[in-house]
Amino acid sequence: VAELDPAVADLLSSSRVIVLLGAGGVGKTTTSVTLALAAAQAGRRVALLSIDPAKRLAAALGMPLSGTPKPLVLPAAGGFRGTLAAAMLDQKEVFDAMVRRHAPSEAVALRIMAHPAYKAASTKLSGPLEYMALAKLQDLANDPQYDLVVLDTPPDDHALDFLARPNILAGFADNKVMTWLVRPFLIAGKLGLGRMLSAGEKLMGGVAKVTGVTALHSFADFLVLIQEVIDGFHLAGEKTAALLRQPSTRFIVVTIATRSATRGALHVTDALRRFGYRTAALLINRLLPAPVSDALRRDPASAPVLAKRLAGETAVSATLATAIKDAQRFGLPETEREPAEVLDLLALAHQIRALT
Ligand SMILES: Nc1ncnc2c1ncn2[C@@H]1O[C@H](COP(=O)(O)OP(=O)(O)OP(=O)(O)O)[C@@H](O)[C@H]1O
Ligand SMILES: [Mg+2]
Repeated sequence: VAELDPAVADLLSSSRVIVLLGAGGVGKTTTSVTLALAAAQAGRRVALLSIDPAKRLAAALGMPLSGTPKPLVLPAAGGFRGTLAAAMLDQKEVFDAMVRRHAPSEAVALRIMAHPAYKAASTKLSGPLEYMALAKLQDLANDPQYDLVVLDTPPDDHALDFLARPNILAGFADNKVMTWLVRPFLIAGKLGLGRMLSAGEKLMGGVAKVTGVTALHSFADFLVLIQEVIDGFHLAGEKTAALLRQPSTRFIVVTIATRSATRGALHVTDALRRFGYRTAALLINRLLPAPVSDALRRDPASAPVLAKRLAGETAVSATLATAIKDAQRFGLPETEREPAEVLDLLALAHQIRALT
């Protein structure tokens, strides 16, 4: 097995939190597992927090579908000197936990959960999932059992909401769907409860559309019930924003070498910048394997189609380097078989190369 690239080893040993972001399907989940395994091999005690809608990799790794991290049994052949615990967040479970966490009492939590609007809200509104991912991230980063927390995020339109979250009113105010949930409370602060409910009813049209809940009155009282839950969001959001700004928190934007993916990656790094976060590294996934690209550099005429692909990869890397000057760039080759087992994924980590 090849050594880890020193730049990768350095990234893994100097980070306390690694957040992987990127468009749908570019390889965020694969990369997060790969990096988590490499760090565990190198002796770190790693917690991996995944929000993988596909759940395929989780199943393959025997990852628990639970918000509480459980240690994975790692194969001896991997020579792991550290440990890896993994947790996987699920929408409904997250919403329940959020209500339990922030409701003023168990009785109120139970009333919220028995509410007719609750089922729709808990399965259709993704805001709490992102919120909970950040809250979990916070817990894991403060947990002395772990030296490194790796956070895999959902595809980027959600991930960006998720970044906005700790910033905006330390919570939700500018966010599409959750705006509908929160604005009535903001108004309530100024206008008093009676006026709020009528304003809320107007605004609830939006929620009704998303959730399929048509009983607006019923939703308005649901909102009154969960007010304290939402207050809890704001407090947690501020702390998380501080964690995300620590120098030992590293954002890695994952992409592939196509023009549209490159635009997507630039969009993500711009959004990061706007929220005051720095992109530490860009990882270009699914590159030609090194032996192939080396051979092509020596003799491009031997395989013109591949040579064209290599030229495209080089151009993408150059574009990203120019656009985001202070980020490291890494390349990850495409493997013949989808990497699905621990040892495959670990081997993949050893193929990550710093790009120059
Ligand atoms: N380097 C690679 N070589 C071969 N297959 C890969 C590689 N990276 C990822 N894949 C495959 O591509 C698919 C998408 O990868 P993955 O699930 O990691 O992407 P994702 O960005 O997490 O997707 P989503 O946005 O849906 O969460 C998976 O089937 C995975 O096995
Ligand atoms: Mg994924």
